[in-house]
Parts: sequence; C-alpha cells; structure tokens
Amino acid sequence: MTYTIEVNGVKRTVDVDGDMPLLWVLRDVLDLKGSKFGCGTGLCGACTVHLDGEAVRSCQTPVSSVGPTAVTTIEGIGATPVGKRVQAAWLEVDVPQCGYCQAGQIMSATALLAKTARPTDQDIDAAMTGNVCRCATYTRIRTAIKKAAGMNTADAGAL
Ligand code: FES
Ligand code: FES
Repeated sequence: MTYTIEVNGVKRTVDVDGDMPLLWVLRDVLDLKGSKFGCGTGLCGACTVHLDGEAVRSCQTPVSSVGPTAVTTIEGIGATPVGKRVQAAWLEVDVPQCGYCQAGQIMSATALLAKTARPTDQDIDAAMTGNVCRCATYTRIRTAIKKAAGMNTADAGAL
C-alpha cells in the first residue's frame, strides 16, 4: 500500500506494508540513514525522530500511524532554530565518542529545549532517560544541553 508522509518538509510517497516501522522506511526506502537502529524494541533511543515536534521511537512507529504529522529526522533538525543551536553546542562540547547514539540524543535534546527553554536537571533527566549511550557521554550531553539553552555550564560536569 502507498503512504505519503512529510519528512523534513518534503512529501514522500512510499509503497510498503503499513506495519513497517518508520525507521525502516527512513533508512531503507528513503535512504535517510542518520536515524540509527539500536535495539528495535523502544529501549535505546537511537532511532528517535520527531512527529510534530514530539520525540518518538521510530522503530516502534508503524508507517501507517504517521498520517499527516510532520516527521523530522536528524538530517532536517538543523533547519530549525533550536536544532541548529543544539547541533552547534554538540560540536562545541565535542559530545560524541563512537557517535552511534548521538542522532537520537540530539533529537531528544531538541524536543526538550523546544518546549522548555531553560530546563532543570530534572527536566533533562526526564527527557533524556530513554536515550542510552554505551560510551557514557552523559556528562557532555548535559553540558551541551545547558550550553544550547544559554545556561551556565560551569558546574555541568559535576551533575
Ligand atoms: S532502535 Fe528504537 S529505541 Fe532502540
Ligand atoms: S557515543 Fe557511543 S554510544 Fe553514545
């Protein structure tokens, strides 16, 4: 069956099974490989994209459920003001180690900051808890989120 979804501002029509996860559609059909496959069971966050600005796990999102909501991926997040700030902070702090989880981390961080301009540590914990980093870059992620929010990052390393 064909589905037309809006991805990074562009309408794309795909001919796939309705239960195909959005992650598969993005990576294997639309060749947008920035969103990563980690666990495939909603537990790691590597596949995080936005649906109308909400961070969702694309491995758990059947393409048939997307409908008219706007899909934003790591390839498109830099076109949004908050996403651009987050990416700049990520570079400045040099967050990634292996990098595998980082697209998902940036998507979750951007969704957080779009709603909560100056997040508390609890806000950050709540928003980022489902994004696992096997390289344990959590301290730098927290620093980068605060930097993107224009907050004091001097004590971020001790958090
Ligand atoms: S691959 Fe989707 S949450 Fe792990
Ligand atoms: S940077 Fe390696 S898994 Fe996060």
